[in-house]
Amino acid sequence: MANDIIKIENVSFKYSEDDNNLALKEVSLNIKEGEFVAILGHNGSGKSTLAKLVNSLLLPTEGKIYVKEMDTSDDEKLWEIRQSAGMVFQNPDNQLVATIVEEDVAFGPENQGVDPKEIRQRVDESLKAVGMYEYRKRPPHLLSGGQKQRIAIAGILALNSECIILDEPTAMLDPSGRKEVMDTIKLLNKQGKTILLITHYMDEAVEADRVVIMDNGQIKMQGTPKEVFRNVTEIKRYGLDVPQVTELSQALALEGINVSGDIIRIKELVNELCQLKLKI
Ligand SMILES: Nc1ncnc2c1ncn2[C@@H]1O[C@H](COP(=O)(O)OP(=O)(O)OP(=O)(O)O)[C@@H](O)[C@H]1O
Ligand SMILES: [Mg+2]
Repeated sequence: MANDIIKIENVSFKYSEDDNNLALKEVSLNIKEGEFVAILGHNGSGKSTLAKLVNSLLLPTEGKIYVKEMDTSDDEKLWEIRQSAGMVFQNPDNQLVATIVEEDVAFGPENQGVDPKEIRQRVDESLKAVGMYEYRKRPPHLLSGGQKQRIAIAGILALNSECIILDEPTAMLDPSGRKEVMDTIKLLNKQGKTILLITHYMDEAVEADRVVIMDNGQIKMQGTPKEVFRNVTEIKRYGLDVPQVTELSQALALEGINVSGDIIRIKELVNELCQLKLKI
C-alpha cells in the first residue's frame, strides 16, 4: 500500500478571530502517494481554503495537516512543504514571472540555490514532460492559456514536487486548452505524481481515482467517480451536476432500457446500448 503523502486531520478554519463562520469544519482527508483526487463543490464550499491550507499558505485554526509527515504549522518546514506540494492557480497570467519560458521554469530552483547545471537539466526535463520544450525561448505572454498553465506546471516539476495541487486550472481556458492541461495532468499522474485537482468540470473529475464532494466547509461524499456520481439526487442537493451521460443513462433506465446507473463515460453507454441491440 502506498503511504499517505497528505494527511488532513480534523481541520477547522476561520478567516478572522471574530468571524463566527467557519470556512472549513472538521475536515479529515488522507491522500496517498500517486493518487489522483478531484475535489468538487459549489462556490464558497471551502475548496480553495483547503488547498491553501495544504500548501501552508494558511494555517489550521484547529486540527493538523501533514505533508510528507511535515506539520504545515512548522515554520522551519515551510519551503520544504511548498516544494513537496506545488500549487497551480486559476489565472495563467498571474503565475508566470519571467520574460522567457525557460527562465520562468528555472525561477523556483534558482531561488532554492540549486546548482546551475542541475537547473538546466531540470528545466529541460520539466518542459519536455509538459510538451513545451520547443517553446523554451518564447516569451510566455505570447502563449495560449493552456500553454501558460503547462509552463506553470513545469515550474512545479522543476522543484521536484511529488504532489501537484491545482485550483481550477482550466476555469479560464477554452476547450482545447482544457484538454491540453488535463492530458498533462493525467500523464504526470501516470508517471507517479500525486494530483489534487479542484474543478467545476464533471468530465475532469471522472478522470480521478477518487472524487471528494464539499459543501458548506465539509466533506459530504467521497469515493470512486462511479460510486459518487450515481447518487444524482444527492449531488444536485449540493448544487452540483453529475456527468450528463450519467443522467441520461439513469433516464433511459427509468424508461425500462436496461443500462447501468453508474455510467460516467459516453463510451460506456454506447457499449451497453450496442450489447442490448445485439440481444434484440
Ligand atoms: N480571504 C478571505 N477572507 C474571508 N473569508 C474568505 C476569504 N476567502 C474565502 N472566504 C470565505 O471562506 C469560505 C470558503 O471559500 P473558498 O474560497 O475556500 O471556497 P471555494 O470552494 O474555493 O469557492 P469557489 O468555487 O468560488 O472558488 C467562503 O464562505 C468564503 O466567502
Ligand atoms: Mg476557489
